[in-house]
Amino acid sequence: HDKKTKQGGHRGRFSGKIGYVLAVAGSAVGLGNIWRFPYLAAKYGGGIFLLVYILLTVSFGYVLIMSETAIGRMTKKSPVGAFSFFGKTAPFKIGGWLNAVIPMLIVPYYSTIGGWVIKYLVAYLSGKVQVVAEDGYFSAFIADSWQAELWFIVFAALVFIIILGGVKNGVELMSRIMMPVLVVLAIIVAIYSVTRPGAIEGVKYFLIPNFEHFSWMTVVAAMGQMFYSLSIAMGILYTYGSYISKDIDLEQTTTQIEIFDTGIAILAGLMIIPAVFAFSGGNPETLQAGPSLMFITLPKVFASMGIGTGAGILFFVLVLLAALTSAVSLMETSVSTFMDELHWSRGKASFLMAIVMIVFGSASSLGYGVLDFIRIFGMNFLDFFDFMTNSVMMPLAALTTCFLVIKVVGFDRIAKEIEQSSKFGRKKLYNFFLKYLAPICLIVILLSSIANVLG
Ligand code: PFF
Repeated sequence: HDKKTKQGGHRGRFSGKIGYVLAVAGSAVGLGNIWRFPYLAAKYGGGIFLLVYILLTVSFGYVLIMSETAIGRMTKKSPVGAFSFFGKTAPFKIGGWLNAVIPMLIVPYYSTIGGWVIKYLVAYLSGKVQVVAEDGYFSAFIADSWQAELWFIVFAALVFIIILGGVKNGVELMSRIMMPVLVVLAIIVAIYSVTRPGAIEGVKYFLIPNFEHFSWMTVVAAMGQMFYSLSIAMGILYTYGSYISKDIDLEQTTTQIEIFDTGIAILAGLMIIPAVFAFSGGNPETLQAGPSLMFITLPKVFASMGIGTGAGILFFVLVLLAALTSAVSLMETSVSTFMDELHWSRGKASFLMAIVMIVFGSASSLGYGVLDFIRIFGMNFLDFFDFMTNSVMMPLAALTTCFLVIKVVGFDRIAKEIEQSSKFGRKKLYNFFLKYLAPICLIVILLSSIANVLG
């Protein structure tokens, strides 16, 4: 195999370390950090959720990022190709496709949320800073099926224009400039939020672990969120790994990506959770708000700021850009999987994805309105897609990666791949997590997810 891998040839896409770290960070930082993380932390125990999340990130997150990237770099293939590089039988095919299919199921409901972001941006642009902050504004909006569908379509159309127009580089470049602006703005809003009267209770709730708030769902949700936020267990990092050269220090870059991604998530938590306490009296119902939390709480913060309209516009522009770059990379991975593995043209692959997008995305968008009566295991479509991918499919996909490494590739080959350019200081830790903890925990997570749904 060695010869083949050395010749990786035309795939060497990232210019170097910085390009690679920025690309992974660009994919990692998105709605997951700003919209999803705060609502899960609020719902599943605050500080205890944060603690579990961080522990998982430095253990499983680390193992999976390292494994997926190393295998991608070793095989120079995206997930389907990488799995079949090691074997052509059904289990390998299924393992590869499981990883590859997940982005296709995420991008439609991701776009529903993207549509909500555009709606809010437009509202701020038309000066509705006080209206948006009124109680019931958000629930009335998502219950209005025409509106929800319209803004979803606008977001989806933007994604397709970018994909088909191939202006991906322009957007990536733009997002690289925007990312620092987003960080600065998030810091300002977070400082403003945590200094509101009553907010300190929220800061405590979010940062101090309280074991009374612990439940199995804390672990299930934290693990799903870790996959989602770091873009692991969905084939992305195989693909990205296949684009990098042998001299990139995988251990160092992995650490940087984890710190950056978690940092943004914590900032978003500090913007939103203390504000729940300051503006809604920390009432438990608001903490349970779920997907709507960001859209209910932040407008109240903006409405109380003297410069609320400007802050609202800037914030939603930046979130929109972060969401677009992530959605584009999800879509791009799906399209290129079809092109590589089934030898489809870009047009045909994009067409199929457009259908998937419209069907599943509309179901998600309308699930709060006309389709509200449809419940799958008690969940509406958006929650169901989110749950299926994050709590069921991603643990399975992660399991397939663990088995691939343990049973087929072998720890030594992974170590050799990593050691070409890194010290691999956490080698023992990697081995221990991979062999013992990861599979056991993944199975427990999977079973408790299933039990949760059936129970
Ligand atoms: N990690 C992204 C987020 O947290 O929003 C979601 C994501 C985007 C996953 C792009 C994968 C991906 F390729």
